[in-house]
Amino acid sequence: MPLSKDFLWGGATAANQYEGGWDQGGRGLANVDLAPHGPRREAIILGLEKHLQPEEGLFYPGHEAIDFYNHWQEDIALFAQMGFKTFRMSIAWSRIFPKGDETQPNEEGLMFYEKVFKELRKYDIEPLVTITHFDIPMHLVTEYGGWRNRKLVDFYENLVTVLFTRYKGLVKYWLTFNEINVLLHAPFMGAGVYIEEGENRDQGLFTAAHHELVASALATKIGHQIDPENKIGCMVAAGDYYPWDSKPENVREALDKNRENLFLIDVQARGKYPNYFLKQLEREGLTLPILEGDEELLAQNTVDFVSFSYYSSRVTKVQEEGDEETSGNIFASVKNPYLKASEWGWQIDPVGLRTTMNTLYDRYQKPLFIVENGLGAIDKPDETGYVADDYRIAYMAEHIAEMIKAVELDGIELLGYTSWGCIDLVSAGTGEMSKRYGFIYVDRDDQGNGTLKRTPKKSFDWYKKVIASNGQDLSNS
Ligand code: BG6
Repeated sequence: MPLSKDFLWGGATAANQYEGGWDQGGRGLANVDLAPHGPRREAIILGLEKHLQPEEGLFYPGHEAIDFYNHWQEDIALFAQMGFKTFRMSIAWSRIFPKGDETQPNEEGLMFYEKVFKELRKYDIEPLVTITHFDIPMHLVTEYGGWRNRKLVDFYENLVTVLFTRYKGLVKYWLTFNEINVLLHAPFMGAGVYIEEGENRDQGLFTAAHHELVASALATKIGHQIDPENKIGCMVAAGDYYPWDSKPENVREALDKNRENLFLIDVQARGKYPNYFLKQLEREGLTLPILEGDEELLAQNTVDFVSFSYYSSRVTKVQEEGDEETSGNIFASVKNPYLKASEWGWQIDPVGLRTTMNTLYDRYQKPLFIVENGLGAIDKPDETGYVADDYRIAYMAEHIAEMIKAVELDGIELLGYTSWGCIDLVSAGTGEMSKRYGFIYVDRDDQGNGTLKRTPKKSFDWYKKVIASNGQDLSNS
């Protein structure tokens, strides 16, 4: 079974890294506006340093990002030129509800996305919309404590009701929360949450997570009520953990790590908390803030599909002195000696993509959607601005080949593939522009200098050919 003719090829972005226009169109201040470039970034996004207002002297790359806000027509035309069938983007919550707790939305914000969706449709590009991608109005953080507060469920309900109503017929594919599991590692970026000194960290995080799960189920319910055509998915930062070796304790450790990564998706896709997690709560003396009706809501409103990002597999073992760690997408891992790594130390494992797809499909039996995959690399443009990014082509060709095997040989239902950062944008982890993923080079540096000029790279024509051949031609020639 080859890829279906409706396979959704495309690219992925997020408002906080792409859109810019942070103070335009009535948009309010959001947590993502407070992630500076430089040494303080990590502590801020992890929630270890409280940072509630932009500070003089710090550079916040997300404020202008690469200014999709004022370049949307030009960018969409370029995506259309590559033959995109879908385009993943996210809504900046504070563009629709600047403070988050208003009852009336900001029309200018709604209009912006309406124009964008119509422009995409003009080229037959299906929008794939992440409702929140690490994004929350700061007012909801300072006044309510972010997602640890149950009231956030109501504000999110308002948001999704407005979005589903206004964009009915324009948008069909929705993701409720980007990488929901990231909130367990980077609570400020993931959920606008700070863990206070002396507080039980897991209790705080699981409380916020429960609220997001309820909000996600509610969004699924409302989305289906408003338009039965809507397809609503969850999203996980995926990548299987391999055991370091066959030592039984290490195999067990890998099982635990995979569960830790997937238990929120277990709820979104299967409709209830898994027993292993409930037992963990019992052991740790923790409770979930479950209200009457929550369990039915979760059970009755599971997602239509499971989407995920995949950059690498991970390795785990019971820690011993001297173990070498490697960096990765938020999660550190033991270094895998069989794999090469990117310039940022993210290990490259195309086979792991197929394995991860099988894990997710075996576990959930729902269609999958790869909504992020790609190589962050340093690009060196020539004097005309052209980048010959053969390394990116090689990375993607190998991953796409494994993805196709997962469909053709393993029989996995796969809705589509959107490569991350199809146009160069700001890195979520480091705030750098120099960590580039795109098919389109954008003239901007880590300090915010540059013309923002867009120039197709070599991978632009390559990806166009991949899409035109529906994945049959992956050659770099
Ligand atoms: C995912 C996020 O975690 O990884 C994206 O959903 C992010 O927002 C991507 O950009 C790649 O990570 P980074 O740190 O290289 O930008």
